[in-house]
Amino acid sequence: MIKIRVPGTSANVGPGFDAFGLALTIYNTFSFEEKSDGKLTIRGVDKKYQGTTNLVYRSMQKVFKKAGHHSKGLYIHSDVGIPISRGLGSSATCIVGGLFGANALIGSPLTTEELFDIAVEMEGHPDNVAPAIFGGLVVSLTDQGKNFYIKSEIHPTFEFYAIVPDFPLSTSDARQVLPKKINFSDATHNLPRATMTYLALVNGSEEILRVSMKDRLHQPYRKKLIAHYDVITRKARDMGCLNTCISGAGPTILAINSVNNPGFLNEMSVYLKEKVPGWQLIPLFPDNAGVQILRG
Ligand code: HSE
Repeated sequence: MIKIRVPGTSANVGPGFDAFGLALTIYNTFSFEEKSDGKLTIRGVDKKYQGTTNLVYRSMQKVFKKAGHHSKGLYIHSDVGIPISRGLGSSATCIVGGLFGANALIGSPLTTEELFDIAVEMEGHPDNVAPAIFGGLVVSLTDQGKNFYIKSEIHPTFEFYAIVPDFPLSTSDARQVLPKKINFSDATHNLPRATMTYLALVNGSEEILRVSMKDRLHQPYRKKLIAHYDVITRKARDMGCLNTCISGAGPTILAINSVNNPGFLNEMSVYLKEKVPGWQLIPLFPDNAGVQILRG
């Protein structure tokens, strides 16, 4: 039996659209066993995900194919801790869990870099799978079919809160509302803000982070899909939180708070409960470890 733990991720972090991703202390854990009964058994998920279209299973097949391995039977169990279709990288965890689980099951013939390449190909962009694999705050790019990343650790002055609604939003719906073209001024607006957001998160520059996260590439279009977005983000700022953004493609709102503002947790919990029931607040820290093989 192999057990793989994969962190959830928050992509974009405001102005870093399709570039930044941050691994957080919220996890999906997958268990794998090869069987000789010729059957595929998938547990821990809804019935509709228990067949060969299951994303964890499909990811495993990619590794088996590349390694020339023929599996007779498989048991997969998912222990799901990350809300689904909420912008917290749950599909990236399925891909990464399946790839690393399959590789570990057959004696690790593929390197981490090879698994990263397959994960990017499957997900279509690297900003969730890169932090899910490597942990920390990751900026990544694909150039001429090759994937590159730089990982940094977030400064300990920051803590994170996922403010999660009770409705899902699919990434494809959230990409459909984006414009085909953007103004030159919107591109130049984002460039220094993205760079300074990354550096502020690493250096612990709270005052920079308060102003650097305004985005003009995706959030103005996407926030219309998220009921209560404006009021919740305004309240978060009123409660002294440093900044907020849409987590990945949404609909979760990521709040970045200073550890020196400990009242935020209670104030926001009470506000959500009283004014926007259905939303939940999940306190989180950065995960610097990335994917972990817990037992092998
Ligand atoms: N960067 C992607 C997007 C992340 O914002 O569409 C989605 O998982």
